[in-house]
Amino acid sequence: MATYEPRDKYYRKARERGLPSRAAFKLEELIERAKIAPRGARIADLGCAPGGWLAILARAAGPAGRIVGVDLARCTNVPAGVIVITGDILDRATVERVIAGLGGAADLVTSDLAPKLTGIAMRDEARSHELLIAARQFARRVLRPGAAMIAKVFMGKEFSRIVAEFERDFESVAVTRTVATRPGSSELYIVAKRFRRRNEGR
Ligand SMILES: C[S@@+](CC[C@H](N)C(=O)[O-])C[C@H]1O[C@@H](n2cnc3c(N)ncnc32)[C@H](O)[C@@H]1O
Repeated sequence: MATYEPRDKYYRKARERGLPSRAAFKLEELIERAKIAPRGARIADLGCAPGGWLAILARAAGPAGRIVGVDLARCTNVPAGVIVITGDILDRATVERVIAGLGGAADLVTSDLAPKLTGIAMRDEARSHELLIAARQFARRVLRPGAAMIAKVFMGKEFSRIVAEFERDFESVAVTRTVATRPGSSELYIVAKRFRRRNEGR
């Protein structure tokens, strides 16, 4: 059986590199493999606290990039130049604030959104799904044609439908695990590239 080791290799590595969370290594691996997040990119990071992904995105996009993070929780590690909004992505007013912060069409939307787990499988799965739908709707509003998205997804009964929905919006969709994901976790990431032109009828 997989064991949960809170202070594992990635936790220690994050401490050594001054990164606020071990989650940073997951994104570092994903953007390196997919070759997304170029210098100067405009990026929205959904579920950004405590700021591990923001650190990786800020480094990848450089000073000419524009990065806006949003989370229910206050983000205490905000890289220079990054805008962070405290709010609920399910709330329309928060969505508008993130869009205003971006100031133009995005090259990449990342979502590591995850609900506080209750241990009640059906409820946790429904809540995760709701967050993923919100992330995808947000991406559809802000991405420029050709842009990309990375989103956390948990294996569940809606899994095939979720992937099919991404395939409608993007020309290339891959589902992957990261090396830094804890053993035994059902966490996966969708890496979707080449956003198709927005079409309200879709
Ligand atoms: C796994 S953590 C993100 C870790 C982050 N990517 C990092 O590298 O530090 C998931 C985050 O999703 C946030 N979250 C959950 N539901 C949310 C919602 N409705 N709106 C905004 N953020 C939400 C949580 O507060 C939590 O901080």
